[in-house]
Amino acid sequence: MKEAIVLPSLEVEILDSQIPTPGDEEVIVRVVAIGLNPIDWKGADPEVAIQLHGHLKAKQYANPGKDVAGYVHAVGSKVYEFKPGDRVQSTNHGSGFAEYSVGPRHTTYILPDSVSFDVAVTFGLSYITAALNLYKELRLPEPWVPAEDPTPLVIYGAASSVGAFAVKLASLSNIHPIYAVAGRGTEFVESLLDSSKGDRVIDYREGPGFVTAEIQRLAPKLEYGLDAISTPDTTSVMVKLMDPVKGRLSMVLPQELPPQVAAGIKTTVSFAPALWEPNDVNSSEVERRDLTALKSFAHVYFRYLSDALANGIISHHPFEVVDGGFGGISRALEDLRDGKNSASKYVIRVSE
Ligand SMILES: NC(=O)c1ccc[n+]([C@@H]2O[C@H](COP(=O)([O-])OP(=O)(O)OC[C@H]3O[C@@H](n4cnc5c(N)ncnc54)[C@H](OP(=O)(O)O)[C@@H]3O)[C@@H](O)[C@H]2O)c1
Repeated sequence: MKEAIVLPSLEVEILDSQIPTPGDEEVIVRVVAIGLNPIDWKGADPEVAIQLHGHLKAKQYANPGKDVAGYVHAVGSKVYEFKPGDRVQSTNHGSGFAEYSVGPRHTTYILPDSVSFDVAVTFGLSYITAALNLYKELRLPEPWVPAEDPTPLVIYGAASSVGAFAVKLASLSNIHPIYAVAGRGTEFVESLLDSSKGDRVIDYREGPGFVTAEIQRLAPKLEYGLDAISTPDTTSVMVKLMDPVKGRLSMVLPQELPPQVAAGIKTTVSFAPALWEPNDVNSSEVERRDLTALKSFAHVYFRYLSDALANGIISHHPFEVVDGGFGGISRALEDLRDGKNSASKYVIRVSE
């Protein structure tokens, strides 16, 4: 098969590789479409890759692709839900820039016939990261047991793929009012919100002072915050908004926080790559239990997604199909690195 290798310069080399064979709990997908994520360019830099994923093997960064959709080609001996020919979306730890990709069963799910492969690859990593932030880190009510009382939530970076899926999931959980911070993607984010429930967009292009004052005016002390961008600038706004005693702030990247934060706000960082960590025989019983629970979390949320797609209650992220198949990966990764995409995912078509 053809496989695209991303070099630290973000140039791409096309190699001839072996079609992978599945482990017991793995699914091989014949790839039709690939969705790109920021980690695909960050992971191509070996130093960043080691910082982010020191526990995974360096080899896995050569082909960093995470999100694929296509047809099941083969399944492992302990895979009970899929068979060759099924239409699926699958998210993995890196193997996606290829004609055949390998992913675990718990991050693979059946696509309803109404959902195209291009649409499907906008979900994957961004969707599960949004779910991890809202439900595992912030412990907010899940869509199948929705909130009964107003639950104000700030989502910083609501036009990003992670932020937008967080807005959509929060709405399915009846979590309102949502204070959504966006810039170029304001119009898109407005289309996701319910102003009758107090949801509002706050434009970050007006500056951090404006964002802080505007949200503090609407909600002086916030219990729940998701920083879907997590740069020093965004996080320093978020910590000012949080209730110093009850506040819970979830981030997508580790950030050093101002010392006063240590006083009260509970901060956590979601880490989707843990979904692909192998069960280590040397781990403690608690670590193994937590890893099993995390994999069940992904299993459940991806099956919820299958259902939500079939019921038409969740929309995909806007996307742009990049010309040139594997040949388009390099330019798209450069554009992602340079922040050119606004409220949009890049999609690569591999086959029909
Ligand atoms: N922890 C994990 O496991 C995990 C998993 C996935 C992603 N991530 C990380 O999460 C981040 C977001 O990923 P993504 O896939 O959602 O990215 P993305 O879709 O490529 O994000 C692009 C969006 O970011 C928004 N943005 C950029 N700078 C902003 C700022 N200062 N304030 C508010 N919005 C800003 C832009 O909003 P406008 O269009 O409105 O200007 C743009 O639409 C990345 O750093 C990624 O590496 C972490």
